[in-house]
Amino acid sequence: MSQRLLGINLSDKASCLTRDKISFRSVLLIFFLSFFSYSQVVYAAKHNELSQKANQMLTVCKDCHGKNLSGQEMLNAPAIAGQSLLYLTRQIAKFRNGSRGKHKDDSTGQQMASIAITLNDPESLLEVNQYISRLTFIEEVTNLNTTKATASISQLRLGSNYYQAKCGACHGGNAQGNDKMLAPRLNHLSPTYLLKQMANFSNATRGGGSDDKYGRQMAMMAKISAGQELDNIIMFINSLTNKIIVSDDNE
Ligand code: HEC
Ligand code: HEC
Repeated sequence: MSQRLLGINLSDKASCLTRDKISFRSVLLIFFLSFFSYSQVVYAAKHNELSQKANQMLTVCKDCHGKNLSGQEMLNAPAIAGQSLLYLTRQIAKFRNGSRGKHKDDSTGQQMASIAITLNDPESLLEVNQYISRLTFIEEVTNLNTTKATASISQLRLGSNYYQAKCGACHGGNAQGNDKMLAPRLNHLSPTYLLKQMANFSNATRGGGSDDKYGRQMAMMAKISAGQELDNIIMFINSLTNKIIVSDDNE
């Protein structure tokens, strides 16, 4: 009995010892791994993360989409900084395969399509898209000169109600986008671009192709709002990133 107990005690002690050794080794390993990943982060931060080829590709994007990739109104190029990686990748694929930017009335889509077909290096493109999706939207200086629209508080309240009822379920309560619904972020896009895309969806300039499932889905949604109601929705979306001036209700 006592021997069995002793035996148990001994083996317990033995397993205790190995456990101690293991945990000491794990602590050491964790320490080295964290130090290694920390130096990787410092390295990446110092070296701009991008390969040379990806950096060259990004320079081309900045020509139109702006220094911060936050859109250039004058060139009709929308903000792409902070857009979801999934959406960026899918749209460029659409521009490349002709399901977006091919319609004869879609001159701005055609412009982007002509760039997209030159992006023949998938690895650099992935790097670029990853980089863009991690950026924070910062209004481009060139856009600050464009006159901001003004909306009243009651207009925004109406816009918010319509938005939550008709758009929010897919695009998120703050128009921040929702990858699960494949719906992009909207709150960084300019009023002009938003209105233009809604018109494009409504008249099948965008999303009309039989191979463009999600574009078709949005095209159906674009038909459920128009006129003053849509204006209010767009004002509300833009109020989320301070792209409009809010006025009192007493006019
Ligand atoms: C010659 C100007 C030009 C260049 C260069 C350019 N774009 Fe564009 N891009 C546009 C325009 C204009 C649009 C708007 C298309 C439309 O109206 O549908 C656009 C649209 C897009 C969209 C769709 C955005 C959305 O919200 O649906 C993505 C994504 C995009 N560009 C990514 C890129 C990337 C990445 C690069 C660099 C490799 C790039 N663009 C280079 C002009 C350009
Ligand atoms: C059923 C889900 C759903 C609803 C509801 C919906 N959308 Fe969308 N929306 C999408 C999807 C999916 C896309 C992406 C289409 C694509 O892949 O081309 C999209 C794309 C868009 C775009 C293009 C953005 C860009 O960067 O070019 C705009 C603008 C837009 N939606 C506005 C709205 C507005 C405004 C409403 C409400 C009136 C609305 N959506 C309601 C699913 C939805």
